[in-house]
Amino acid sequence: MMVAGYLAMLVLSGPPGVGKTTIGQLCAERLGIPFVDSDQEIAKEAGSSVAELLEREGEAALRTREHKLIAALGNEPCVLAVGGGLITVDKTRQLLKQCALLIGLEASVAVLCSRLAHSGMLRPLLQPDPQSALPRLLAERESAYRDVHVRLSIDTLSAQQVAEIICHLYRQMFPKLHLQAKQSHDSQRQVFGDSEVFFTNELPDPCSLGTECLLIHDEILETAGGGVLREWLSRFPVRYAVPAGEPLKDLAAFPQHVEQLLQLASPLTASRLSVVAVGGGSVGDFAGFFASVFKRGVSLVHIPSTWLAAIDSAHGGKNALNVGKMKNQIGTIAFARRIFLSRALLEIQPKERAQDALGELAKIAIIDGNDWTTAPILPEPESLWSVLPSAVAAKYRVVLSDPHERLGERQKLNLGHTVGHVLETVHRLPHGLAVAQGLHFALHFSMKRGVLGASDLQQLLDLLTSRYGLFDRRRELPPIPQAQFVQLLTQDKKRASESSLRFVLVRGLGDVITTEVTIAELVAEAARQEYIATV
Ligand SMILES: NC(=O)c1ccc[n+]([C@@H]2O[C@H](COP(=O)([O-])OP(=O)(O)OC[C@H]3O[C@@H](n4cnc5c(N)ncnc54)[C@H](O)[C@@H]3O)[C@@H](O)[C@H]2O)c1
Repeated sequence: MMVAGYLAMLVLSGPPGVGKTTIGQLCAERLGIPFVDSDQEIAKEAGSSVAELLEREGEAALRTREHKLIAALGNEPCVLAVGGGLITVDKTRQLLKQCALLIGLEASVAVLCSRLAHSGMLRPLLQPDPQSALPRLLAERESAYRDVHVRLSIDTLSAQQVAEIICHLYRQMFPKLHLQAKQSHDSQRQVFGDSEVFFTNELPDPCSLGTECLLIHDEILETAGGGVLREWLSRFPVRYAVPAGEPLKDLAAFPQHVEQLLQLASPLTASRLSVVAVGGGSVGDFAGFFASVFKRGVSLVHIPSTWLAAIDSAHGGKNALNVGKMKNQIGTIAFARRIFLSRALLEIQPKERAQDALGELAKIAIIDGNDWTTAPILPEPESLWSVLPSAVAAKYRVVLSDPHERLGERQKLNLGHTVGHVLETVHRLPHGLAVAQGLHFALHFSMKRGVLGASDLQQLLDLLTSRYGLFDRRRELPPIPQAQFVQLLTQDKKRASESSLRFVLVRGLGDVITTEVTIAELVAEAARQEYIATV
């Protein structure tokens, strides 16, 4: 008989002093599922300790209580540490063996005695002299202790090592159930259209991402995050490390990547394949594009490693490659199934680069009109993490109003990007900083166009500088030759006609519009704002 409720229970049994509680707690922490101690549960229910119950009611009554507890446990996966005698009752042990992973922890008498001496806990069945009582107890229980799924001697291992081995076994046996457990206890899940977004402190367990994963990750993460991150990456059996940045998104280099990826993916089943992208926006764009065209499209999981990607690029399904210096000319819209926003991973990004996220953050705040916080937003984990859910929800509000960019609504997300992309290409600015400067341009242009009043302009400029620390740095940038400016604008993918493109203007906080603007007008405005040398 299979009892559904116990499918993903992990049970630790063994003699007194073997460390079931300590090891059980470590396992529960690693697996993200609750820890239950049978002795504590029984004591809570009876209102007296197990030692008192034994003295008052006898051992048989205690075993009956234990069996009832096992039968009554809910249907959530958990780590259960059981009292040393619990599995000596055949029917209780068989019940556990049918529906749980039953681990028998073992240790030599010498180790157990030394641990019991240090624990200071009263063990009624070992009184008055544990040294002589323990061998007798072990001999009596030997057949029951042997009748488990896995026996593990702890004599030469630390509690952490034992927990690691047990968790590995458990994940092998219950990969899917483990995922459900991890998600429900360790992370906050939100659904936006076809995408699930998880806000989690930890990195997701690789086993929980599917059985056929092709990991594409930024090679910097092999060194940037230290041993823990390296170990996590190594747990993906099929991996492809790439150097981040715009060259990765170059269409000309794509066929070579595809050849290598094809070889790597050959043992995997395409119908079950998930591409897992771990990195910043460039890795996400590259891996997302690959996933959307490989075998006509396979499943995609994003695990962004930059704040910019966590706030913006990992959401909304846009994947793009560059053609030469022209950004994002070849692309698809294919939504990631799951996006894991892992604070542990994002915290690795240095503060100087975390700052790149502020441009996209300020952009979505202006579009959404949402006053998420009255405190200045700093390029630091605490500050960025606190606004992340609001920023992500704001982006999906726009994306889901026009998922495939057919109604013009999604174009609002290009605010700051028209001139931003030119600055990114010419001055090799990080994307986020280029967008921040593009926001300054768009705000001044909006006032020049007569859609934004002077006091609203001031309010928005104050927002950029005092809330997001994004100062107007146009005077620090060398002027761009007019011909180059025009050439880059004419290649902009928001072109509306030969001589015009769609530009996002701001009418106020939370009020942006897209409108057709001639390239000549943009050139004149860029000259007025001193971005280009001459008109
Ligand atoms: N698809 C979209 O909707 C969308 C939206 C916005 C931006 N983008 C694209 O995103 C890209 C910019 O994103 P980005 O700024 O994340 O760039 P990126 O991927 O180039 O990463 C920036 C730098 O940070 C490093 N890095 C990444 N994670 C790190 C970590 N945890 N610790 C230390 N260093 C780390 C990278 O190696 C790289 O040097 C651009 O190509 C842009 O076009 C796409």
